[in-house]
Amino acid sequence: MKSLKAAMLAAAMVAMVASAHAAQTPSVELGKKLFNDPKLGGATGAKTCASCHPNGTGLEFSSESPKLAQNINTCLTRAMNGAPLPDNSVEIKSLILYHQSFK
Ligand code: HEC
Repeated sequence: MKSLKAAMLAAAMVAMVASAHAAQTPSVELGKKLFNDPKLGGATGAKTCASCHPNGTGLEFSSESPKLAQNINTCLTRAMNGAPLPDNSVEIKSLILYHQSFK
């Protein structure tokens, strides 16, 4: 009986982790949302990525650069005064997916 309880608890925990993970999955949709978010990286101005790159205009080939993440963070810090997004964050991964969708 004890092991059954333990198994049920383990299954519940797996389900919880899985659903928490689902909310944290990078996506093009989230990338698009962040691209239009003036508060990205804690920025406090009115500008968004889209202010200068409407719908990704001019960024069609940006995802071919191995420095895409760095380029995104350069714009975020210099043009929007935001804090750089960590390499493994859902935010940067989603923005990369969104940039890849411009092609
Ligand atoms: C104030 C205007 C401005 C804002 C805001 C801005 N950018 Fe930029 N961005 C530029 C300029 C200017 C360049 C360099 C010229 C170019 O490549 O278009 C550039 C370049 C880039 C590049 C490299 C382009 C390439 O071809 O490799 C990427 C990627 C990029 N921006 C993404 C972003 C993202 C993501 C945001 C929001 C976090 C953002 N930019 C916000 C003006 C801006």
